[in-house]
Amino acid sequence: MTPLAENGETVLVLAPTGRDSSLITEMLQRETIPCHICAGVDGLAERLGESAGLALLAEEALIGVSLAPMLRALDKQPAWSDFPLLFLTTTGSRPTETSMDLLKLLGDEANVTILERPIRMATLLSSVRSAHRARRRQYQVRDYLARLKQKDEELLQTQKLESLGVLAGGVAHDFNNLLTGIMGNASLAIECLPREARHLRTVLEDVVSASERAAHLTRQLLAYAGKGRFIIERIDLSEIVRAITHLIQSSIPKNACLRLELADDLDAVEADATQLQQIVMNLVINAAEAIPADRSGEVVVTTRNEELGAGRPGQAFAAGEAGPGRYVVLEVRDNGQGMDDATRARIFDPFFTTKFTGRGLGLAAVLGIVRSHKAALEVQSAPGAGSTFRVLFPAVSAAVTGDVGRGAGDGAAARRDAATILIIDDEETVRRAAKATLDHYGYETILATDGKQGVEIFTAMPDRISLVLLDLTMPGIGGEEVLRRLKAIRPHVRVILSSGFNEMEVIERFNGAGLAGFLQKPYAAGTLAARLRSVLAPGRIGPS
Ligand SMILES: Nc1ncnc2c1ncn2[C@@H]1O[C@H](COP(=O)(O)OP(=O)(O)OP(=O)(O)O)[C@@H](O)[C@H]1O
Ligand SMILES: [Mg+2]
Repeated sequence: MTPLAENGETVLVLAPTGRDSSLITEMLQRETIPCHICAGVDGLAERLGESAGLALLAEEALIGVSLAPMLRALDKQPAWSDFPLLFLTTTGSRPTETSMDLLKLLGDEANVTILERPIRMATLLSSVRSAHRARRRQYQVRDYLARLKQKDEELLQTQKLESLGVLAGGVAHDFNNLLTGIMGNASLAIECLPREARHLRTVLEDVVSASERAAHLTRQLLAYAGKGRFIIERIDLSEIVRAITHLIQSSIPKNACLRLELADDLDAVEADATQLQQIVMNLVINAAEAIPADRSGEVVVTTRNEELGAGRPGQAFAAGEAGPGRYVVLEVRDNGQGMDDATRARIFDPFFTTKFTGRGLGLAAVLGIVRSHKAALEVQSAPGAGSTFRVLFPAVSAAVTGDVGRGAGDGAAARRDAATILIIDDEETVRRAAKATLDHYGYETILATDGKQGVEIFTAMPDRISLVLLDLTMPGIGGEEVLRRLKAIRPHVRVILSSGFNEMEVIERFNGAGLAGFLQKPYAAGTLAARLRSVLAPGRIGPS
């Protein structure tokens, strides 16, 4: 049975003071039923809302008294509540005016039991017990309704995410293709500029950096919608933190001191490295920005292994659930301004921000990544007391192994000549930008406007093509099918897959199919060239 206080089973007693009320309370106490003697109808009305299970009213206490406060309090009860009233008549008479008035006032719907006196204690006790039972069933209905409401909210959240996913996916696909054109051409133009054209260089660098910021926004949206880049590897979280904090150190405010407490013996986690970096970056930047400009503060990033037992106290996960088991924990703690409850309730909403220049996408992205990694996230914060964000990733016991998605011969020097690259992409801007870059770096290029044409060209000259740069999402024959057909013609064909977003399953399947590399759109000219160089290592040039 549920504890009494939690579900409100106190019997409110309204009876003339003296023998009557002391007899009733004595009896209830003997049966360990909690009770409370109310001083008048006002007192009863006040207690109706809090932990009350039923009311026991003696008629004598109601004669000539206004029942309005009690009726108002009963009206305010929630829809599931049908508050039980036990009404004790005056001794030995027919129903009096007071009883009749009360019944009329309460109406037909009220849950009133009339007990005529003289009453035996056993009868009273069994009436109290049966009213309690009825009340408990009401509590069950209340809990059931609360669970339904929570499920509804979860469903709504899922639907919201799904439609955002469709939107983000569509935006990412088109937007990243356009950005590839902008960024690719601008970065290539920078490389081709004569030394003296300094002014033009600055202008073009601004174009590249604006398109990088636009690409960052798209990545945050995609991450929130659970459609971010997704190449699952076994990863050492400490290493990720070390690398990314090194990079962002210069971009966080100077009054924030960054301290790392990273475990060396960390279990591996199965995750996408880029998305983990995104989590660390967003949390650390937020923590640093939470430190008021007029004082210094500290941001501590901790990683550790943690074993969760059953029934861990005080867990308030903002996302996901962490059952008993082994976890790798990432904790970002700051002693900044902290948050009040109203802010904390909204921080994961996309576009919620309290900052002048904020976009409100940082934590939304973190939440999406946490969800898609089946991790859990908890937040502790109070105004003036700083904030702690903790992400718990399920640990993988085996040791950390090498990178997936990187082709053989990574890091080898380039040999530009002789290599012919087949570019298959349905977007003209992308094809032209990639071609311009590859021309610049001395590669031969052949262009295909869709999957069908790509396969036809490859079929006609399989021995001439050193590498295929393949778009994932195309109308007609998509990237996955093209890859399959190319492999059927030449099993060891080197293919670099390029996309603005990736479906996890596709990438996982591609891994098995021996993809030479992956290129996230949008990419700059230098990135494309470096990726080609790493795949076309010396000795591996030409058709394999
Ligand atoms: N460590 C923190 N301390 C205090 N408040 C925080 C902290 N982290 C987040 N917040 C609050 O949560 C809000 C949302 O954070 P989020 O990272 O999603 O967006 P943002 O930082 O405002 O903008 P963006 O990250 O897109 O540049 C912040 O505006 C801030 O009010
Ligand atoms: Mg932020």
